[in-house]
Formats: sequence, C-alpha cells, structure tokens
Amino acid sequence: MIVTTAQLFKHAYGKYGVGAYNINNAEQAMGLFRGCLEAKAPFIIQISKGARKYTDKRMLEAVIRSAEQIFPEAIFAVHLDHGDEETCYDCINSGFYSSVMIDASHDPFAKNVEITKRVVEAAHKKGISVEAELGMLGGVEEDIKVEEGHACLTNPAEVQDFVGKSQCDSLACAIGTSHGAYKFKGRQSLHFNVLREIQQKMPGYPLVMHGSSSVPQEEVRRINAAGGQLGSAVGVDENEYLPAAKLGVTKINIDTDGRLVWTRVHREFFRDNPKEFDFRPPGKVFMDEYAKFIAHKNGKLGSAGQLDDLRKSLGK
Ligand code: G3H
Ligand code: 13P
Ligand code: ZN
Repeated sequence: MIVTTAQLFKHAYGKYGVGAYNINNAEQAMGLFRGCLEAKAPFIIQISKGARKYTDKRMLEAVIRSAEQIFPEAIFAVHLDHGDEETCYDCINSGFYSSVMIDASHDPFAKNVEITKRVVEAAHKKGISVEAELGMLGGVEEDIKVEEGHACLTNPAEVQDFVGKSQCDSLACAIGTSHGAYKFKGRQSLHFNVLREIQQKMPGYPLVMHGSSSVPQEEVRRINAAGGQLGSAVGVDENEYLPAAKLGVTKINIDTDGRLVWTRVHREFFRDNPKEFDFRPPGKVFMDEYAKFIAHKNGKLGSAGQLDDLRKSLGK
C-alpha cells in the first residue's frame, strides 16, 4: 500500500529512521519488498533522475505497481530523489509520487529558497510533500561532483529561516556524510553537535540524512578478491543511525551499499562460474542477498518490527 511520506514521518519521528532505498530495476524491487516484509518494516522507495532514465520512468512505475500487488502487506511511500525543478513538476503531475526532493543546495541561500518555494507551492496543491536541502554533501550525485573541500555542513542558524521562507516539509541536512563508496579515509562520526542544534531549533520537524551507506569493509574485500578495484574508504557507522533518528533524522537514504551487494554477487558468481552466461542464476542470488541486506539495514534503523503498529495507527 502506497501511503504519503508525511504519514510515515508522523509514525517514525523521534523513534526510528525510515529507510529510503534507491531502486532502478525489478530485481532490486523484489529484494526490497521481500527484505522489508521479512523485517516488518515500512520504507520509502526513492527514484533518482538517473533511475527514471535507465529503462523508462513508466517501466519503473509499472515495476513498483506490480510489487505493490505481489506484496499487499507492504506499506511504503514513493519519492523523487535529488530532483531539479523540471523533474519535480513532472513527478508532482504524474499522480504517482508521495513526495519529491528539490535539490537546489548548490545554489546560494536566497536562490535555494526561491526555487524550493516554487516547487512547494506546486506540490502542496496536489497534496505532495517536499524535501529540500540546505548545506552541501561531498561526493558524486547524478552529474554533480562536489569535491571534499567544497562540501559544507548545514548551518543550524539558517534552518528556521530556510524552512519558514520555503515552507518545505522536510530538510536534508549535511552532517558530515557524502554520497558514494568513497566517504571517509578513517573511522568518522556524524556531526551530532550540528544535528542536536538543528533539532533544538526545529523540534518535531523531520530531517533527512543523505549519504548514509556504511560501505561494509567485508563487502569491499569480497568485491576486490573477485577482481574489483575499489579503493579503501569507510562509510557511516550503522550504529549511529538510531541515535540520529532519535534526534529527528526520520528518513535515511541508502543506495551505495545496495550497489555493493550487486557488484559482489555478480563478480563472485562469474568468477566461480566462468562458463555461465545466463543472468538469471546470479540475479536470483542477488534478490536473496539484497533482501537480506535490506532486512539487516531496517534492523539498524529501528524500522524493523514497526509495520503492524503503523498499520494500526493508519486504521488499515
Ligand atoms: O544520491 C544519489 C543516489 O545515490 C542516486 O544515484 O543518481 O546514480 O541514480 P544515481
Ligand atoms: P549513499 O551513496 O551513501 O548510499 O547515499 C545515497 C543517497 O543519499 C541518495 O540520495
Ligand atoms: Zn542523496
């Protein structure tokens, strides 16, 4: 059942993080739904501009609609990840999305407010909520690469002003994470001091953490042992998801770790089965492994086990 992102946030705020998982194809969708039902967790499916273009946005929409029928117990929202203005309007008008993200975080404050406000006005007319971003994460997202030196943490002193002027419904805050598989050289903690300050200024207001993959070292090791050449880097400590959620981080975005599962499964499969040319056997292994990975993440986010209570609170 597709619900609004606002309904998920209302149930989760201050208690647990809702996993927002990027998907691109049917295999990921199957693993995602299976993993979330196994863990009894609500979730957000997020779709990037790249994902909409990968096959066709209608293909992905059909995959999600089919998954909704195959897994009638699932409760989830559908969200546009890192949208520009044009893509936001396309999603708002499609009638399929529960929420959109307008990412104008690369623009100066006033321009970010101006663009976000326009998208919010269009979205609210259709009952859709809007995530905006203030501050700038490092790493690569879509066609934008932010060098580490240019990334900047969200300034807590600007948050109330930004939300007040733009009227966005949730805010992605830069608290030390970055996108992709190359995050930190050594173990690094989230900037809880910044998060705490933001939450004190905006109690009850849902915050979003991008770049939340943990880049499991065992996964990197196995990929490299099977011929990969991933550099050494670590990600967010999974044990920091829940403390962040208690401080208002209600949506936790994870994409890269899922890609690592795909890469590990396929590299190992073809290394161990060099005569194989059918993509279905590794595809099956991938769906199983992806479901396991999702269930594990939901455990760390605290969303595991919340499905029945959420259903009750929705009166379904
Ligand atoms: O933050 C970006 C997400 O990981 C989506 O990645 O734009 O390559 O689909 P993508
Ligand atoms: P990761 O690259 O850490 O998975 O972050 C994904 C993300 O923030 C999607 O918006
Ligand atoms: Zn992101």
